[in-house]
Amino acid sequence: MYAVTLTESELRQIDTVTSSLAAKFDSVNDPVFLRDSTVYAHELPDRLRAELNTFRHEESGGVLSIRGHVIDDTRIGPTPKHWRSQTGRAATLPTEIYFVLCAALLGDVVGWSTQQDGRIMHDILPIKGHENEQLGSGSKELLTWHTEEAFHPLRADYLGLACLRNPDSVATTFASVDDLDLSEDLRDLLGKKRYPIRPDRSHLPQNRGETQHLSAREEALLTRSYEWITNLDSHPEHVSILFGDPAAPYLRIDPYFMEEAYADTESAAAMTGIVDAVDRAIREHILEPGEVLFLDNYKIVHGRVPFTARFDGTDRWLKRLSVARDLRKSRDRRMSHTARVIY
Ligand SMILES: [Fe+2]
Repeated sequence: MYAVTLTESELRQIDTVTSSLAAKFDSVNDPVFLRDSTVYAHELPDRLRAELNTFRHEESGGVLSIRGHVIDDTRIGPTPKHWRSQTGRAATLPTEIYFVLCAALLGDVVGWSTQQDGRIMHDILPIKGHENEQLGSGSKELLTWHTEEAFHPLRADYLGLACLRNPDSVATTFASVDDLDLSEDLRDLLGKKRYPIRPDRSHLPQNRGETQHLSAREEALLTRSYEWITNLDSHPEHVSILFGDPAAPYLRIDPYFMEEAYADTESAAAMTGIVDAVDRAIREHILEPGEVLFLDNYKIVHGRVPFTARFDGTDRWLKRLSVARDLRKSRDRRMSHTARVIY
């Protein structure tokens, strides 16, 4: 992990940018804000822009931590009971703006029609009733390490996490493909398209949110998405776990949704081999309030340790962003060339 700590003067510079944008926009979902976020990002401190640019181009490490941004714990208000609770202008808007501007230097932020009602900015908080789920809103269960949206051909290039509060020091877990000790034979086997992968639960119709606000076309696209996902769930695509340059491969894996990959002896040996290698390499990192973490979703798997949720407004609360390097790849699954929601 590479860590950057912002200086007082850099924080003042960021505050000037975020304050003026918070006066101009009510939400980071504003299409004009999203379109121009790349331009506004040029007002971030030089060093921060350089670090994000290096992170994007060098592909070394795969995890970038940016610390120093101050969260006013009182001002952001209690941790919501549900990600759907947030309506109107968010008390967390300045932090969200700062987070989007950082992300804009890595690519374009995107959302999923089948996740959190198509929101771009996700809330990660424990939800009552989800305690034992393999979801970002779970708590009691270990959130097994995974590639974000591993099943999806348009999965994010980068995953961003911004910590608002983490009073019980709940650890985020991660491991890099670069740190895995894998034999040549195992690498070859993992490079073959023979591992069935099913969609994670957050994208399935049972977690479908409100749809009253959708247009007829959006509703039709959403229905098509759910059909596609439901079909993938019953007929999982066979993917390779390692891909790209065999000498410095990328990784795509979510073992919790890959049980069928253990069906034959050879695949089972490959799965066991990589799962053990990741388990050996996995590290814990406790996010602190104000910290922004970017994970390279082609190189890093991540998860979360179990914790006991409080459900009293003081729970761990993160914001999450998905960043695409090339928005055009998803053009046939977005409403317009500027739309950010993938159907
Ligand atoms: Fe995740």
